[in-house]
Amino acid sequence: MNNRKIIEGALACPVCGAALSLTDDGKSAACGGKKRHLFDFAAGGYINLYTSRASGGDSGECIAARNAFLAKGYYKKISDEINLLLDKYAGAGARVLDAGCGEGYYTGRMAASGKTAFGFDLSKSGVNIASKAAKRSGLPAFFGVASVFALPVLSGSMDAVTTIFAPCAEEEYARVLKQGGILLLAGAGKEHLIDLKKAVYESAYENEGRRDLPTEKFELLEEKRVTYGIELASGEDIENLFAMTPYFYRTSQKDKEKLKEFSSLFTKIDVELFIYKKK
Ligand SMILES: C[S@@+](CC[C@H](N)C(=O)[O-])C[C@H]1O[C@@H](n2cnc3c(N)ncnc32)[C@H](O)[C@@H]1O
Ligand SMILES: [Zn+2]
Repeated sequence: MNNRKIIEGALACPVCGAALSLTDDGKSAACGGKKRHLFDFAAGGYINLYTSRASGGDSGECIAARNAFLAKGYYKKISDEINLLLDKYAGAGARVLDAGCGEGYYTGRMAASGKTAFGFDLSKSGVNIASKAAKRSGLPAFFGVASVFALPVLSGSMDAVTTIFAPCAEEEYARVLKQGGILLLAGAGKEHLIDLKKAVYESAYENEGRRDLPTEKFELLEEKRVTYGIELASGEDIENLFAMTPYFYRTSQKDKEKLKEFSSLFTKIDVELFIYKKK
C-alpha cells in the first residue's frame, strides 16, 4: 500500500473540514468538499495544513539540537514506556496522533512498534525532519504542519492522542478521539534534569509538573513515573540537551557558558506520564 494512503479516513481539510484523500498521482491530498481544496506533499513528504499566517513552533536551532540528542538514545526508555502504555490501553495496531511531535522521535518509534502514526507540529523544520525519516524507513507515519488547537483531522478518527512535552489542547484532542479513546500526556517530573540545572544555576528549583492536565472531557486511568539516570557522554550532548529545554531561552549567556566546562555529566531523568480515557 502507498504509505500516503494512511491519510484517508483520518485527515480533514483545514479550510472546509471535509475528508481529505490522496489524489490519483499520489502527489497531493484533495478534499471532498465543493471547492476541492488541494494540498501538495512537500519534497520531504509532509503536508503544510496550517492555514493561519502566524508562524510559530520551535526554532530550527532547537529542533536540530533535539534531533541530534534524541538520536543518541538517551530518552529511549521514555519512548519505550509510552509505546507499552499505548499497547496496553489503545492496542498494538492503534491509530495514534502525536500532537506537538517536534522532529518525530517518539512518533517514528510508535510507527516502528506497529501503530499507524500521525504527527503534527507548528515547526516546519521539525515536521520536515520527521517525515524524511518516515520516508526512509517506510513506516506508516504521516506528518503535517498544523496547530494542535485546530487539527486537520476528522472527528472521532483516532484511537489515541499523545502530547509529549507539548501543549494540551483538551477540547481538540477530545474531538479527534473516538469514544473511549486514550490521551497520554508526558511532562517533566520534579527532578527532571535536576543535575543539569545545578550545573548552570546557583539555585536549581524542582519542576512544578504539568499545569495543563485535562479537567472535563477525560478521566484519569493511570499515572506512571519514569526515572533513571543518564551519563551525557560529550560536551555536544550536554549542550544539545540544554538547548532543547525551556530553560535555554531563559538563561543568560554567562550561565550557559558554564556548561562548556563539562565533557561529561550525569543527570537524573524524571518524567511523568498521565493516561486518560475520553469520557
Ligand atoms: C518541547 S517540544 C516537544 C517535541 C516532541 N514532542 C518531543 O518531546 O521531542 C514542544 C513542541 O510543541 C510544538 N508546539 C508548540 N505549540 C504548538 C501548537 N500550538 N501546535 C503545534 N505544535 C506546537 C513546538 O514546535 C515543539 O516542537
Ligand atoms: Zn476543503
